[in-house]
Amino acid sequence: MTTPSPDRRALIAGLPAALALSACRQGGEAQAAAAARVDVPPLKQVAPFPVGACVMTSQLADAGFNGVLVPNFGQVTPEWEMKMEGVLKDDGGFDFTRADAIADFAAAHGMRLHAHTLIWYAQAPGAFTQIDGTGQAFADAYRNYILAVGGRYRGRAVGWDVVNEPVAEDGNGYRDCLWRKNLGMEYVARAFHHAREADPNAVLLMNDYNLELMPRKRASFLRLAESLLKAGAPLGGLGTQTHVSLGEYRPGMAREAIRDLASLGLPIHISELDVSTKGGRPDFAPPAEKAQHQARIVGEITEAFMDLHPARRYALTVWGVRDSDSWLRRAPHDGSDQPVLFDEAGRPKPAASAFVAAVSRG
Ligand code: XIL
Repeated sequence: MTTPSPDRRALIAGLPAALALSACRQGGEAQAAAAARVDVPPLKQVAPFPVGACVMTSQLADAGFNGVLVPNFGQVTPEWEMKMEGVLKDDGGFDFTRADAIADFAAAHGMRLHAHTLIWYAQAPGAFTQIDGTGQAFADAYRNYILAVGGRYRGRAVGWDVVNEPVAEDGNGYRDCLWRKNLGMEYVARAFHHAREADPNAVLLMNDYNLELMPRKRASFLRLAESLLKAGAPLGGLGTQTHVSLGEYRPGMAREAIRDLASLGLPIHISELDVSTKGGRPDFAPPAEKAQHQARIVGEITEAFMDLHPARRYALTVWGVRDSDSWLRRAPHDGSDQPVLFDEAGRPKPAASAFVAAVSRG
């Protein structure tokens, strides 16, 4: 645990005593709305680690979005625009317009840029499917892609999700994908070596999801990380997306996951935190109860992160600024989820209070 800086101490001391959490226990929509009007200090000023959010260029011009993002978050992850689909054209050329806009925005606002993501099974654009099975030509294109994209943000990105979601859905072994088909499992180590060649200083991370919910998947993820380290690949951190839900999350899950992940001694990124209020039994709970339940989960996850040695806290990133910005609001979802820390109107929710309470304990 760290001692709060004098600035943090002053902010923490100024917190409204009850953090308005008790208001949510009264139940009902009106009370839930009232509870949402809690007053919290800017998150990034009270947290002793970088607090991030994902962003898209379409959101950056929205004053409501910026009004919450800029004071509260000190780091941004491009939600989509640095992915292969966002930068690589079918003819093999690049379009960095949108990705650059996010990098420029981060620089202009003194925010860290966490770049996402170089290699992901879910993205296999035409420029690569056209050269499927070409052996060395595929390997060269793979390296050139990573050099071009990683190199473009050299000195600007503090870190990269180099390989995203390599572990199989059921946690047993690793995903089949275009990259593995052409390069074997070596595709993972190669990506890290190429990324290091592109950017000598960025923290190079491997990122995956359901690591809290599925110990088996976590074990596979850790086995891969360990084998990368043993083979001398420049793996510099582990990202746990932490997309969880009220229905599935059980107390203790985050703490166990973070403890296991920390066992390799690498910095940890809670990289895409959201707590879906949809699905499972609590779907029938009144909104205020859900807000309270969500706050407890966010508090527990944040406390588990706080328990890491400060040098091991890469960042904690929330996957959406306001509920209305969340990917869980878009099709195919029904638009009623409330998964993040600020409501549609940009007001901090009980989950934001719980985050502040957890980081203020140190
Ligand atoms: C999601 C974005 O939120 C969506 O807007 C996009 O359409 C698809 O990708 N794991 C990841 C993120 O690593 O890149 C995903 O983001 C969410 C799951």
